[in-house]
Amino acid sequence: MVQARPQGELVTHIRPPEMTVPEVDLLIIGAGELVTMAGGVRRGAALKDVKAIKNGALAAYQGEILDVGTTEEVLARVQTGPSTKVVDARGRAVIPGFVDPHTHLCFAGDRADEFAMRLQGISYVEIAAAGGGIMSTVRATRQSTEAHLVDVGLRRLDALALTGTTTVEVKSGYGLSTLDELKMLRAIREMARRHPLDVVPTFMGAHEIAPEFKQDPDGYVRLICEEMLPLVSAEGLTQYCDVFTEKGVFTVEQSRQILLRARQLGFRPKVHADELTDLGGSALAAELGAISADHLLFASGDGLSAMARAGTVAVCLPGTAFCLMTVPYANARRMIDMGCTVALASDFNPGSCPAYSMPFILTLACMHMKLDPSEALAAATINAASAIGMDGRVGSLEPGKQADVVILDAPSHRHIPYRMGQGIVSTVIKKGRLLVDEGRHYKASAR
Ligand code: NIG
Ligand code: FE
Repeated sequence: MVQARPQGELVTHIRPPEMTVPEVDLLIIGAGELVTMAGGVRRGAALKDVKAIKNGALAAYQGEILDVGTTEEVLARVQTGPSTKVVDARGRAVIPGFVDPHTHLCFAGDRADEFAMRLQGISYVEIAAAGGGIMSTVRATRQSTEAHLVDVGLRRLDALALTGTTTVEVKSGYGLSTLDELKMLRAIREMARRHPLDVVPTFMGAHEIAPEFKQDPDGYVRLICEEMLPLVSAEGLTQYCDVFTEKGVFTVEQSRQILLRARQLGFRPKVHADELTDLGGSALAAELGAISADHLLFASGDGLSAMARAGTVAVCLPGTAFCLMTVPYANARRMIDMGCTVALASDFNPGSCPAYSMPFILTLACMHMKLDPSEALAAATINAASAIGMDGRVGSLEPGKQADVVILDAPSHRHIPYRMGQGIVSTVIKKGRLLVDEGRHYKASAR
């Protein structure tokens, strides 16, 4: 029998190794609840069903989950030995690592000045029209080297890991020239190579009309279709292509043109849809079989029902509404009722959402979009994984999946939103490796 140990101490030598079955190299025992999220993406009433096991345990070998069950069951089934790292959760909740399926975390500079301007009542759209907004970050990102982007990006990934995120999507889109978009995507690829988190890149050359094409937006669409997309494809830099379909940015027709070309080259579409106006981005996403449509603050009922039919994941980003202060929150309850797969993401970026903590995003989702705490966790794990095509590998604790695990400083996952983003994450394990151990951060990235 394994005895509870002081915080953070690892127990070894549970029982003598037997030679027939390989020893597991990670064993988590004594979880007050082990939230498995087993059984795939969740819609409708099933979104609440987190599938928790009381007094749970999890065994992994070489980064992959081998067994999940009660502590008694797992101890009886797996082989342990000198190479087994045993972590006693001591009654705390154990959950799948958070998946953040929408960020713009590759950028240079900051926009703290715009935050102060918004407090004065100047809106995001007004700031952008005056040359700030996305264009301000484009200027800073164009001036910075690939090495600098990698360096700041790795530090941000470390910060995300501390808040329990184990898989993250990262978009380009602050380059807006062929060379600068390629620079961003190569920087994201390098971050992915050097950091233990799974980093899923998305090409978003269509984040804004490049300044050189302000008088000729169709010319910029042609540059994306004829030059950027083929080069990104040839270098194998991403699987996804995202477009900001918005009044004053890309029209529905221009977005369709870009995404059809992207599809031809083998990319899967994504859409920043109906964020500031109801332009029809959600219906376009459904029409093109996009893997996700994100934001959706102004999405129409028709757009949402088309998404539900097409299986396009509805990614809600409550941090953005919180930060912009002038827009409503997405109507997630309506999306759930309509049968959409609802996911949560941070939208972490220097302008419209400088917050990256998924526990904080869950707080906003519960308080402002009226999600139940269990629904919010499902939306931020298994459903979020499906928004970036990763639900076969991450987002739940099931045999065959990656051992991406978070131990909370709480007896239940329902404490996550209640704690308002503060100090809820104790231990973070990525592919079986401890990144954060009882709040202590291991140097995660190889710099
Ligand atoms: O998702 N909507 C467009 N893109 C981002 C904002 C990026 C920025 O302001 O730098 C968003 O909100
Ligand atoms: Fe975004």
